[in-house]
Amino acid sequence: FGGGALAGLKVVVSAGPTYEDIDPVRFIGNRSSGRMGFAVAEAAAAAGAAVTLVAGPVSLPTPAGVARRVDVRSAAQMQAAVLEAARDAQIYVGAAAVGDYRPQQVAERKLKKQAGADLVLQLAENPDILATLAAQPAPPFLVGFAAETHEVAAYAQDKLRRKKLDMIAANEVGGGRGFEAGDNALTLYWPDGSLELARTSKAALARRLVEQVAARYRAVRG
Ligand code: C5P
Repeated sequence: FGGGALAGLKVVVSAGPTYEDIDPVRFIGNRSSGRMGFAVAEAAAAAGAAVTLVAGPVSLPTPAGVARRVDVRSAAQMQAAVLEAARDAQIYVGAAAVGDYRPQQVAERKLKKQAGADLVLQLAENPDILATLAAQPAPPFLVGFAAETHEVAAYAQDKLRRKKLDMIAANEVGGGRGFEAGDNALTLYWPDGSLELARTSKAALARRLVEQVAARYRAVRG
């Protein structure tokens, strides 16, 4: 009972996009399907962790074994849910594609078209959930994702250092890779090493990622 590489650990996984409302019928979103994060949540649960899955707006069933799911819409809601869930967690995997900006004002009524005139939306910066967690007194082991179209390694390693992460999983998106694709490849970076995980299904990739997270967690946190 209770075996597995993550047995006895609480793991929080964020997944999916965020939607930032413009008015009651429009929003700014992104093309994250949530499938990678959901696969990570399932793999972590299979490895024995008590998993809380914080999900952006996706229409995916809760994976087998996941103890708790919190559905959110905006980055602000995701941040609140993650901070709450991460309070007693040992590991946070930020697989969500969090919107970097939100409309500064959310219109209460549907915006009307003004024919012949351009519309300017003022955007406010969203909080960075991973950086917020990293700045806390005793942060959990932090795993980020970096979806890049160019110079994947350089951006990922920079992000690892800048956001004070313990590990980052980088992939190249665009051209059928990453976001809406069924399979994926990842390169993992941590402060003193890296590992390529070859292209395979998101489920298999998630299991390999979870193995490495467990190994790195045990190496640095005992
Ligand atoms: O900087 P970038 O958005 O590429 O970083 C990606 C990583 O940072 C992901 O793990 C994502 O979940 C996390 N992130 C976050 N809060 C944001 C933006 C990104 O936690 N506002």
